Formats: sequence, C-alpha cells, structure tokens
Amino acid sequence: MLKFATDTAAPAVLSVMDAIYERRSVRSYLPKTVDRALVRNLLDAAVQAPTAVHEEPWAFVVIQDPGTLKRLSDAALKTLQDREHGVQLPGAGSRHFQLPENVFYDAGTLIVIYGKPLGPFVAADCWLAAENLMLAARAIGLGTCVVGLSVAALNAPEWKKELKVPDGMTAYAPIIVGVPSGDTPATGRREPEVLAWKTGLSV
Ligand SMILES: Cc1cc2nc3c(=O)[nH]c(=O)nc-3n(C[C@H](O)[C@H](O)[C@H](O)COP(=O)(O)O)c2cc1C
Repeated sequence: MLKFATDTAAPAVLSVMDAIYERRSVRSYLPKTVDRALVRNLLDAAVQAPTAVHEEPWAFVVIQDPGTLKRLSDAALKTLQDREHGVQLPGAGSRHFQLPENVFYDAGTLIVIYGKPLGPFVAADCWLAAENLMLAARAIGLGTCVVGLSVAALNAPEWKKELKVPDGMTAYAPIIVGVPSGDTPATGRREPEVLAWKTGLSV
C-alpha cells in the first residue's frame, strides 16, 4: 500500500501521464525527513524498470545524514574546481543552471543508483530506474532532482569506501528527494524533432 508525502488527506495517485508532465527538478525543500517507508516505495518503483537481459544491475545507497550530505556536497564542489578531474557541464552558468552553494539544495535525502559491471546496458538500466523513481516520487507528492554534479565525488575511492560500495560498481544517478517547499514552474521543452517517419504508405 502506498503512503503519501503529505500529512493531510492523501491525494489521489497521479496518472502516469500526469506524473510525467508534472515532474520538475525541485531545488527547494521543506526541512522534513522522508520516512523509510516512502523511500522503500521509491526503491520498489525504481526496480520495476525494464532491464537488459533481466540483469537488474542496480544497487542503491540512501543518505539521510545532514553531515554526510554536506561533506559530499563540498567534495562535489571541489571536484568541479579541480582542473584535473573537473566535470565540464555544457550549459553550466546558463539560465538552466547556476552552481549552488550546496549541490543537494539542503534536501534531506539522497538516493544514489549504482550499476554493477554487467555489460553494455548498465547505464541505461540505471537511468530507467532513476526515471521510475522520480515519477513515483512525483505521484506521491515528493520532489526530486538529479544531481549530476555529485557523480565524480561519489565515484572517488574514498566515498566508495565510506558508503561501502564495491570497487567495480559505478554511481550513475544521484537523486535528491524531499517535500517541495512550493510549486516549481515548468521548464518547457522543444517540440520532438522527428528525423524520419517511414509509414510504407505512398504520399
Ligand atoms: C543527467 C542529469 C544531471 C543533472 N544534474 C543536475 C545537477 O547537478 N544540478 C541540478 O540542479 N540539476 C541537475 N539536473 C536537472 C536538470 O537541470 C533538469 O532536469 C533540466 O533543467 C530540466 O528541468 P526539469 O527536470 O524541471 O524538467 C540534471 C539532470 C540530468 C538528467
């Protein structure tokens, strides 16, 4: 049975289409902890994703300790300043992205999706699980945001050791989760660019 993120009357679960169209990257959260049962719901939704040759190559780390999140955010910001290992983000500094003081926007929960070294589709599987998780979160009233800025730090040996992540595994999708502090405006999208649409019908 699904639980909901708000204490008030449980909202109706959103339809898949509503969750897809209403999901937004949330960067401002209420200082509330997402309880374990809700996190479990999200992990359960994540692992329903399609998975190449049914490998299910994912594993998860959940961080809800504010001190650890702050240290990890600082480590992530440091990787960006580090010329040698710096992450070049196309569009960084654009209207879509400003470097924040805390890469996790003070969210109380970070879920990291890791991939096991099981072939060429591991990254795809992990990102499909990530989207499932984010849509499920939206459906139950929680906000999420992928924090790509933290990937390099999460894959550093010292963080793998601290988070008990085996050497061969790779962090793909770090996702913050929390109760949004307000509405997040839609960012808009370009029309789908269709390169070809072959119907077999003559025109
Ligand atoms: C792979 C990936 C990495 C991202 N990394 C960050 C990030 O580090 N920080 C951030 O604030 N948003 C990040 N985002 C969120 C995007 O900025 C956001 O999805 C995009 O602007 C579209 O907005 P929307 O998600 O609200 O539709 C990331 C998204 C993806 C897919």
